[in-house]
Amino acid sequence: MCGGILHRCKKYYHVSLFEDLFLIVTNIPEIRPEQSVELLKELHILTRDGKLNQDSRRKLKQVYHLYQFIEPLLLEVMEENGNPILADHGAGKSYLGFILYDLFMKQHAFGHVYGIETRQELVERSRALAARLGFERMTFLNLSVEESITSPQLPEEIDIVTALHACNTATDDAIKFGLQKQAKFLVLVPCCQAEVAAVLRKHKGQALKNPLSELWRHPIHTREFGSQITNVLRCLQLEAHGYQVTVTELVGWEHSMKNELIVARYKNLPRQKAAERLDMILAEVGLEELRERFA
Ligand SMILES: C[S@@+](CC[C@H](N)C(=O)[O-])C[C@H]1O[C@@H](n2cnc3c(N)ncnc32)[C@H](O)[C@@H]1O
Repeated sequence: MCGGILHRCKKYYHVSLFEDLFLIVTNIPEIRPEQSVELLKELHILTRDGKLNQDSRRKLKQVYHLYQFIEPLLLEVMEENGNPILADHGAGKSYLGFILYDLFMKQHAFGHVYGIETRQELVERSRALAARLGFERMTFLNLSVEESITSPQLPEEIDIVTALHACNTATDDAIKFGLQKQAKFLVLVPCCQAEVAAVLRKHKGQALKNPLSELWRHPIHTREFGSQITNVLRCLQLEAHGYQVTVTELVGWEHSMKNELIVARYKNLPRQKAAERLDMILAEVGLEELRERFA
């Protein structure tokens, strides 16, 4: 589906974020008493003989780091409706879903994690692991993000949407999913996005009158600028749907060039200004054919 992009993704971050997160040396994180040792072994956070080595300490710290962003959102939803439903898109081996379940869902009687993933073997593997651990409120679906928007296998409303390095336009589809499902929160760490860069390249000739087109004269700049402007458009898109958006760096993830963390919270904010700016940018940089993508 996105072989080219995935190939490039692998170059930057090798398939899974969690698999390569070995780079911080700081405080030694502790395994929490409630954590499943079996799960931590499966995630290679613990060695087969149950020990934490230097690499796994770093990995655990990074897992906690991401968890600290998502836990308050889960608590907020828990307080509001008592049953947080989370969908993780481009789940891969579902490390994030498993960690969230182990640290949060397991401690509560309610809540559900859905993992959406196109690779059948990863879905089956996650299903088997969840069954082995007795994580009953985890469901793994062999669907593309786009298919999941209309799939009857998912509830009509989802509280929290996550997408970590979901390839190419899968992040955009995850946003569409969140909007359709009236998600209260979206937590996105975007991956490379090639679609915008391709459209920029296509209209290169017409854009030459605009001095800003220097930004995408060279292919490497086109790729990076395309990636950057994609995230700007994604933020405006979310704001144009009433979300409050914060963009920060996922510190400690230095192994990856893609460590922008976008957290959107539905607040029913005024939408018009963001919608107008979105339209203006699309027109200014020759991306009008992508209006529907960011609608
Ligand atoms: C780079 S991996 C990230 C995995 C995981 N989120 C993590 O951070 O460890 C991207 C995953 O998204 C999946 N994927 C790519 N495009 C997708 C799509 N359109 N719908 C669902 N899954 C997709 C890939 O098969 C791959 O497992």
